[in-house]
Amino acid sequence: MQKRVYQIVTEEFHSIAELPGTDQLLVFAAREAAEKAYAPYSKFNVGAAVLLANGEIIRGNNQENADFTDGICAERVALFFAHATYPGVAVKALAVTAKTGGKLISGPAQPCGSCRQVLIETESRFKQSIRLILDGAEKIMVLDGADSLLPFAFKPDSLG
Ligand code: THU
Repeated sequence: MQKRVYQIVTEEFHSIAELPGTDQLLVFAAREAAEKAYAPYSKFNVGAAVLLANGEIIRGNNQENADFTDGICAERVALFFAHATYPGVAVKALAVTAKTGGKLISGPAQPCGSCRQVLIETESRFKQSIRLILDGAEKIMVLDGADSLLPFAFKPDSLG
């Protein structure tokens, strides 16, 4: 038997002004997208912005449904729209944010398990890590890739 310790490296910031310029732009785009979310049931407005290798920024937000299980998260709306529009173009970074009661959450906004799985598929698809900027009013967390958010993930090569 062997014990192993796995590490996750994050960078933490306390305001958007501390972030590098491209990350700031992406967070602003995500915050803008959150304003347009359709979240009448949870009242938890999530916004995501994806930076593509061609320089395009694609926005997405959560879309809820009276049949709760039919809703979809902001991150997946943005990623799937990006892939549907530019199927051959890699994703370089994704910012995600959330507002409730008209205010940003203290943060960092955390992608759900399904969104982590989809992020990892995108990383596998384009063989490129996705920089993640998880926004919040008090704490913004930056990670170099989605891999560490879902260790031991089910990936294309898991299919054998
Ligand atoms: N939500 C997202 O849009 N992204 C996540 O990663 C977590 C949750 C949405 C789904 C639902 O509309 C609302 O937030 C409350 O769960």
